[in-house]
Amino acid sequence: MKKYICEIPTDLFEIFLVELNGYGVEIIKKDEKNTVYAVYAQDEESQTIKETIINIFEDLGSGKIILEEDIQEENWEEKWKENFKPIEVPPFVIIPEWEIYEGKELIPIKLKIAMAFGTGLHPSTQLMLSLIPKYISKNDRVVDIGCGTGILSIASAKMGAFVDAVDIEKEAVEECKINSWENQVNVNCFQGSVEDVKDIYDVVLSNLQMEIFDKYFSQIKDKFKKYWLLSGIFKEEKEKIIKMAQDNNLEIVEIVSKSEEGKPDDKWYGFAIKHK
Ligand SMILES: C[S@@+](CC[C@H](N)C(=O)[O-])C[C@H]1O[C@@H](n2cnc3c(N)ncnc32)[C@H](O)[C@@H]1O
Repeated sequence: MKKYICEIPTDLFEIFLVELNGYGVEIIKKDEKNTVYAVYAQDEESQTIKETIINIFEDLGSGKIILEEDIQEENWEEKWKENFKPIEVPPFVIIPEWEIYEGKELIPIKLKIAMAFGTGLHPSTQLMLSLIPKYISKNDRVVDIGCGTGILSIASAKMGAFVDAVDIEKEAVEECKINSWENQVNVNCFQGSVEDVKDIYDVVLSNLQMEIFDKYFSQIKDKFKKYWLLSGIFKEEKEKIIKMAQDNNLEIVEIVSKSEEGKPDDKWYGFAIKHK
């Protein structure tokens, strides 16, 4: 396995994460100015991942790989275990698979693997988790488009919903299956994109990037009956979503936001939307 230690100005770090789309990173050092972090890649995909990282740095006009190391896989797993702390997003708490949640007040979501996006750390995931209990009812049929680790699917299944989960990445689908099994919930995970979502559901979940909404907004809006919970929207992209909702005859029921740690102006947004 390869480990790429990278450095980027902190204000571009979240954008890097979103662009990397599907890879977990380990933060080594973060201050107001710079963030140093590691990206892990299996040997067979390491060249592609390295090129992706370099391309993102080029697009952003900043960032560099400062060290490239070969590491033993067991070390990576141990590292992940050391670094993964429970994350509380009431009514949920995200815990690593090897921990037992003793409390009664929160609903545990166990993650066995979290290489895909969806460790629970990102504000957009947390916003989605906060909307789920409000807009998903028992026996609702739900689709999670861009499921990553399956975190939102598992949360929905724990609310009593019947859940289909789709992701364009094969690895994410595998992780979603394993994590669902680990949580003893039934989630139907499959590989595909928005076009492969054939049914109409009570609720659609989509924590995706703005470019994907630019492309698929009007297709996704035809996939829900009750609510569409949407996130992955950063700063001024909020206005774009409001406009797209208006143009598509949709009503925004609620907007929630969460800033990145220590950066009140860097806000992520989540939306609950319904048909007019
Ligand atoms: C921001 S992550 C969200 C992961 C997780 N649902 C969460 O909320 O933390 C977006 C996910 O969407 C997937 N994705 C990107 N484009 C997609 C598309 N066109 N169709 C389906 N999934 C897509 C990515 O592979 C990634 O796993």
